[in-house]
Amino acid sequence: MNVPNHVAIILDGNGRWAKSKGMPRSYGHVKGCANLETICDEMKQMGIKYLTVYAFSTENWKRSREEIDGLMRLFRNYLKKCIKISDRNKMRIRVIGDPSAFDADIQESIRRAEEHSSQYDELHFQLALNYGSRDEIRRAVSRMMEDGKSGVLSGEVTEETIDSYLDTAGIPDPDLLIRTSGEQRLSNFLLWQLAYTEFYFTDVPWPDFKHEELVKAIEKYNDRDRRFGGVKEDTNV
Ligand code: FPP
Repeated sequence: MNVPNHVAIILDGNGRWAKSKGMPRSYGHVKGCANLETICDEMKQMGIKYLTVYAFSTENWKRSREEIDGLMRLFRNYLKKCIKISDRNKMRIRVIGDPSAFDADIQESIRRAEEHSSQYDELHFQLALNYGSRDEIRRAVSRMMEDGKSGVLSGEVTEETIDSYLDTAGIPDPDLLIRTSGEQRLSNFLLWQLAYTEFYFTDVPWPDFKHEELVKAIEKYNDRDRRFGGVKEDTNV
């Protein structure tokens, strides 16, 4: 099986999954987080090089105080655990989004996880936290304008220039986007980076998205003819 180089996932359906079991939404997030850890291990074993997941959007702050507090507790624990996960998978962790809205200890854990894992390059794991694609583009344009004023940036602005100002600078664009739990929209995720990406939508909620579901998504990806402006890409046909 030809595995995609970069898989992006919108982890959706934790809340509905928990509700269907008569449990609180926070239980769904805990199980969703555990599943993310398993899927990370599996992707490493399958030889996927890049994984980017949407864990907390700029819009998620509108959720109830109780749910946000629960998610922050989960991020705290997970980011600490990330050191072990990165050692296990030789995995480099990068957070995309704007972490400045998080409590200082969470920001410190992000810094530590990124620094510790910068020695690894077998799996590149991007965790989108307080991420929104429009906000990412807004921040990139602001920095470009500052650099333009100070003379750091001059000459023609190319697509590569814009790439280099995004949070995903240096990371290849996703080949496959998976969204779980039935919705078929992008919800402000990687709008620039997904220009040529194959989309895979499934009704399966994130906590139930196991190995066989991942294989199904990749098989579907393999069945498709990937075309870039009408030219078939040899490596993916
Ligand atoms: C979607 O489910 C999930 C989220 C909004 C974010 C939470 C993600 C995780 C807990 C997995 C990753 C965890 C860590 C710590 C990186 P939903 O609440 O939108 O579900 P619903 O659509 O059924 O309401």
